Amino acid sequence: MRTQEIVVTEETLDDWWEVEMLYDLCFAPGRSALSSYRLREDVRPIAALCLVARDHDGVLAGAVRNWPVKVGGKQALLLGPIAVHPTRQGEGIAALLMLDCIGRAAALGWERIMLVGDAPYYGRFGFFRLRDVKMPPPTNPKRVLGLELVDDAWDGVTGSVLRAID
Ligand SMILES: CC(C)(COP(=O)(O)OP(=O)(O)OC[C@H]1O[C@@H](n2cnc3c(N)ncnc32)[C@H](O)[C@@H]1OP(=O)(O)O)[C@@H](O)C(=O)NCCC(=O)NCCS
Repeated sequence: MRTQEIVVTEETLDDWWEVEMLYDLCFAPGRSALSSYRLREDVRPIAALCLVARDHDGVLAGAVRNWPVKVGGKQALLLGPIAVHPTRQGEGIAALLMLDCIGRAAALGWERIMLVGDAPYYGRFGFFRLRDVKMPPPTNPKRVLGLELVDDAWDGVTGSVLRAID
């Protein structure tokens, strides 16, 4: 772990294109065709929960953004995209970003987080499968995961995930 030298800060306007380039590098071409992007269209990300991780030289090592969504009439955070530069993967930088992001979201009063990802990775942060929450197709239902920031926050919160402005 070399995360001691990594500083996590809120993303600024000046960071935007650098983060976009990191996402282009880390995700397969056509990432914006993913179903989660439909939920982000015309919706602003939550600025306080868009974070960049830079090394001591200021080089971008990782980034995460968050959008609001609605599920069953309740607000939820849609966490992601999260990515770490290929030369810095395996150092705990995504874990640093995840834990920082979860802590900030809780401090801001968010009650529940969801994401589309691999349970073996996100399980370590407390994410579990949301069997009754439906992402727009095509999404593998096994990859729809949630985290509760207050007790039982996902209990009874079911149905299709909608854009925050729908
Ligand atoms: C997924 C990603 C963000 C992880 O970043 P990272 O900084 O390397 O992650 P960490 O250092 O915190 O954790 C590394 C550990 O997670 C494991 N891991 C990483 N991706 C995993 C996955 N998809 N499924 C299971 N385990 C995974 C690694 O094997 C490693 O395991 P270890 O702790 O036993 O050695 C990074 O690999 C990445 O940017 N990937 C491309 C973009 C992407 O897929 N983003 C996530 C979309 S849901």
